Amino acid sequence: MASEKHVEPVIGVIGGSGLYEIDGLKDKEWRRCETPWGAPSDDLLFGSISGVRCVFLPRHGRGHPIPPSRLNYRANIDALKRAGVTDIISLSAVGSLKEELEPGRFVLVDQFIDLTQGRQRTFFEEGCVAHVSMAEPVSHRLLTTLGDTAEKLHIPVTRGGTYVVIEGPQFSTRAESDLYRSWGCSVIGMTNMPEARLAREAEMNYVTVGMVTDYDCWHEDHDSVTVDTVVTTMKKNATHARELVKDAIASLGHKRELDQAERALDNAIITPPDARD
Ligand code: ADE
Repeated sequence: MASEKHVEPVIGVIGGSGLYEIDGLKDKEWRRCETPWGAPSDDLLFGSISGVRCVFLPRHGRGHPIPPSRLNYRANIDALKRAGVTDIISLSAVGSLKEELEPGRFVLVDQFIDLTQGRQRTFFEEGCVAHVSMAEPVSHRLLTTLGDTAEKLHIPVTRGGTYVVIEGPQFSTRAESDLYRSWGCSVIGMTNMPEARLAREAEMNYVTVGMVTDYDCWHEDHDSVTVDTVVTTMKKNATHARELVKDAIASLGHKRELDQAERALDNAIITPPDARD
């Protein structure tokens, strides 16, 4: 179908701890959104940047009332989908598991290890069974744009890295931190799974910007992570995050061909059409 070939992008931004708005938004409007999975973390902020439509969602709600384990990830992703979002830039405060990923650096994550437990992680619960591929969980087009934009803005950035997602809400023990380092993980956090899985099931392109706030608890020369460290460094990172998002959105505005994630369900549904609910 010719009309499906090129899409006009709508950029969704999921803001993590310390990021409750985005800069440069024109025609701003907060709108409530309901989904069959319940309510998302907050109202959605609609607007545009350099003529590109975008939609912002504060992941934990404004004021940060919702902990990672209690987020309604399905409602958050579904609300963005209903808002017309094609591409998601997901921002998160993360701990560093590598010496060279110092606090203040942005890591453009390209892989995940999901250690979360008991979170609702699929839209395909019953009546229709689907197994989407998660081999490449992020969009390399989004990653490249964010990397190029960060470099232009002189923001310290690393392209690629594995994000281990823990259930929390407690930070890790030293033995756990050492284990994740031995697995080769780059950063640690509590929020980007099942978000990335659900974005794939919803056929949206997705990328995570991990904003390093601390060295978790493995580094002999640094104190173990505390909320104070995370919040203080996150406030410093927030200016960079806002600049990055604003300029990256402006660069993502052109019409483009569909990415693979936008066809994720083409070969994923196992239940035949006549047997689906
Ligand atoms: N978010 C920020 N720093 C973190 C850490 N060290 N562990 C888990 N989540 C984090």
